[in-house]
Amino acid sequence: MKTIQQYTDLIHERITALPLDKEPAGLYAPIRYALDAGGKRLRPVLALAVAEAIAGDCEVAVNQALAVEMFHNFTLLHDDVMDKADVRRGRPTVHKQFDENTAILSGDTMLTLASQLAMEGCDTSTLRPVLNMLNTTAVEVYEGQQLDMDFERRADVSVDEYMEMIRLKTSVLLGCSCALGAIMAGALPQVVRAMYSYGEKLGISFQLKDDWLDTYGDPSTFGKAIGGDIVNEKKTWLLINAMNEDKEGVIAGVLGKNIDAQEKIEIVRGVYNRLGLSERCRSLEVCYAEEAVKSLADAQLSAVPYRFFEELALNSVKRNK
Ligand code: IPE
Ligand code: IPE
Ligand code: MG
Ligand code: MG
Ligand code: MG
Repeated sequence: MKTIQQYTDLIHERITALPLDKEPAGLYAPIRYALDAGGKRLRPVLALAVAEAIAGDCEVAVNQALAVEMFHNFTLLHDDVMDKADVRRGRPTVHKQFDENTAILSGDTMLTLASQLAMEGCDTSTLRPVLNMLNTTAVEVYEGQQLDMDFERRADVSVDEYMEMIRLKTSVLLGCSCALGAIMAGALPQVVRAMYSYGEKLGISFQLKDDWLDTYGDPSTFGKAIGGDIVNEKKTWLLINAMNEDKEGVIAGVLGKNIDAQEKIEIVRGVYNRLGLSERCRSLEVCYAEEAVKSLADAQLSAVPYRFFEELALNSVKRNK
């Protein structure tokens, strides 16, 4: 196994080599802008590491790794329009740097490029499972994103509904990344399923942490504006629990009200602090990371890859970006 940094470097190199220096520049330059901004590259790292763990060679899944990173970045272009987010990875988002039409059309192009990349290197036995996995995942992500928006306007969202929403918008793509690595490595169906389940559980932990960072992160390391979820009244685990437990009615007094964004963020964060929700959210992140590790039991991994995926999951809850 390589290190996470080595997989990240490999992906970075392959992303740089993608032929995106094309006309019309109005379509392709924003794709380059989005991809070059970096990010953690978690999804392609998962695909490469799973392929290496099973086949002893990560190259078999390099195009599928590029595909999941391209797909992920496509979702971000559209997500930032939907979430009215101005900053990502410490830079203006695509719709701010260019415009909304650009975010739509360059995003669409990235979705199609992702699908083309996913087909590369497939043979007759892998093409169908790979495309089926990617397409099924894509539709689930759209369902999750719709629920995320629907929930902004609802006051009665349950924790179970939130969990299903984040499974769809975020987790399934981590599961898909692992599964594509496994499929390309020629893994048995049981192993593909186990690695998918690992990614899926990790994804729940990952989105809980993303939501926590949106309130408690440092904008200079997180790379995104802090408090956007509160301003948009996103029904995160933190907000749902605060709404249920805040007997003093402070939360009810600010939701749906036309008050200053910064003031709203501070009031809501104050309630989270008073109710101890920050610590409870962090414990839950650890629980799901541990669930991810449990899924590895059916993946028939040898000791070194097992340890790699265990560490990745347990370290992911410690991230600050
Ligand atoms: C952001 O994903 C969107 C979520 C699903 C939380 P990442 O946190 O993986 O974003 P980058 O790619 O590292 O910037
Ligand atoms: C994003 O969730 C999920 C997808 C992009 C599909 P968020 O909206 O919380 O992601 P960030 O915080 O903008 O990266
Ligand atoms: Mg969003
Ligand atoms: Mg967002
Ligand atoms: Mg977020």
